[in-house]
Amino acid sequence: MVRTKLIAGNWKMNGDSRSIKQLMDGIKEQLDPAWQSEVLVCAPAVYLPLVVDFVGISGIKVGAQNLSQQAQGAFTGEISAAMLSDVGGQYVLVGHSERRSLYGENSKLVAEKFNAALTKGLIPVLCVGETLEEREAGTTMTVVKGQIDAVIEQYGIETLGQGVIAYEPVWAIGTGKTASPEQAQAVHADIRAHLAQFDAQIAHKTRILYGGSMNPTNAEQLLAQPDIDGGLIGGASLKAEQFIAICKAAG
Ligand code: PGA
Repeated sequence: MVRTKLIAGNWKMNGDSRSIKQLMDGIKEQLDPAWQSEVLVCAPAVYLPLVVDFVGISGIKVGAQNLSQQAQGAFTGEISAAMLSDVGGQYVLVGHSERRSLYGENSKLVAEKFNAALTKGLIPVLCVGETLEEREAGTTMTVVKGQIDAVIEQYGIETLGQGVIAYEPVWAIGTGKTASPEQAQAVHADIRAHLAQFDAQIAHKTRILYGGSMNPTNAEQLLAQPDIDGGLIGGASLKAEQFIAICKAAG
């Protein structure tokens, strides 16, 4: 079985209706239907309906960047999986390092969000990754496995296998510093080996994306690694030409 590559843009808290329309126009214009990869844009929640309308029949998938772990009720300011799915969302990021570090999301909460997404048919993208300190202390895999195991322990490997994993070393996010293809591949292979201890088939079919300063210059080499199944792209996803160049590199 070949894993379909996934190229996902994470717009974070950027853009307005005008710039988003421009960006989507640019992406749609240059999208090549011959590409095999799946293309996803994760928009700020308020713009999801706009983006869903815009992608139309282009095949581009639409996702959100966060969701509540709760199904519904008195949770002022929160957005549920059902709401995201109701307006046409298909994917949702969970546990992005900015959510973990700036909003105190721990791995247990992230696992609850992962599961909440699945209950409403959204595909969760579980973001994992170590800080520079953790890498230098040699604890990269301990950290990453802990973040992944939080889902497996609470909900099982089958649940994890219904989502996507994005390995994003924190030191590479928004810094212009990318993990080398070898560094990234090593962690991706270790993640897959770890999943295989629970279920070999799930390990084989689960897509593991790389994120952290992926751009048109480094994408091709990163995406050529056997265990890198796509990218989660922040900065470079805000410019149509750059995002498209990465999609092209994925083929
Ligand atoms: P970056 O962000 O591509 O700007 O490093 C990646 C991410 O945060 O998902």
